[in-house]
Amino acid sequence: MEESRIAAPIGSALDRFIKSKQDQFAYASGELSQLLRDIALASKVVNREVNKAGLIDIMGAMGSTNTAGDAQQKLDVLANIRFSRALMKGGEACALISEESESYVDLNNSGKYVIAIDPLDGSSNIDVNVSIGTIFSIYRRKSKEGTPIQDQDILQRGSEQVAAGYILYGSSTMLVYTTGHGVNGFTYEPTLGEYFLSHPDMKMPEDGKIYSVNEGSYNSFSQPVKEYIAYCKEKNYTGRYIGSLVADFHRNLLKGGIYIYPATAKDPNGKLRLMYECNALAFVAEQAGGKASDGKNRILDIQPTSLHQRTPFYVGSKKMVEKAESFG
Ligand code: AHG
Ligand code: MN
Ligand code: MN
Repeated sequence: MEESRIAAPIGSALDRFIKSKQDQFAYASGELSQLLRDIALASKVVNREVNKAGLIDIMGAMGSTNTAGDAQQKLDVLANIRFSRALMKGGEACALISEESESYVDLNNSGKYVIAIDPLDGSSNIDVNVSIGTIFSIYRRKSKEGTPIQDQDILQRGSEQVAAGYILYGSSTMLVYTTGHGVNGFTYEPTLGEYFLSHPDMKMPEDGKIYSVNEGSYNSFSQPVKEYIAYCKEKNYTGRYIGSLVADFHRNLLKGGIYIYPATAKDPNGKLRLMYECNALAFVAEQAGGKASDGKNRILDIQPTSLHQRTPFYVGSKKMVEKAESFG
């Protein structure tokens, strides 16, 4: 049996785990492994900053706005800097798509990978000490290394991701990722400064009883979404909504549930961003046996036409997403 098929034991350090799985990558040159290590390292720095958010003057609004017009928090900016720097130093990535940058950022022109990132997800929860996250997608560039980046490198479908995942800064910090061979979760041990495998081969329950949607916007939901919510209530499902996509997704991944951010009157295409929020979680969900759609179409099949494109997002246990879709 090849090494990558042997289940890694619980407690394996992330670096060792990544190395043992390297032969699963289509281009097993070690660069994708290095990229994952770069992301893990940057997340440790962000984790340190998140953990002292209440202690030092890094909380509160920056007084600036990002491309979507949201107020930027200092931690949004800090996290963006930490991840960009780690990726730039690493040299494996040629371009970075980030929620915090209007256009993509050129990194190393000879790099083979394109990264899309939401450096800090759930910013409204920073200053109230509630879980937040980071979301990342990794693509192979299509154009030849060393040549200028082209639209075809940047605007790739989610189905072309070679790896994706998230970091959850919660009651413990976790890194969950997939390279298309299942999903593995690692928990951070802060005194050792290392992630250890705690959730091998994660599977999302096929069905569940938790629904996560911001019901404050109920009046502006479409009739089918309203009917699905009524169905959840009839079934006595549990409503859980943190307001940090990563945290809501992670709970539903472990326990079985559905997260919906539908079209609303204010956001007719939904609020969430296809390229650095939905695609990564859709890839993880599918790899864990779950499902992700915009209510009709598979998220991973959507051809992006712009960096900050939004999409309605239905993600979670397969049967729950199918049921929600069936309301039309
Ligand atoms: P971000 O902090 O990166 O802008 O993302 C916030 C997103 C997502 O994390 C969350 O699920 C959603 O916005 C919450 O929006 P509402 O407050 O409209 O429910
Ligand atoms: Mn976000
Ligand atoms: Mn964000």
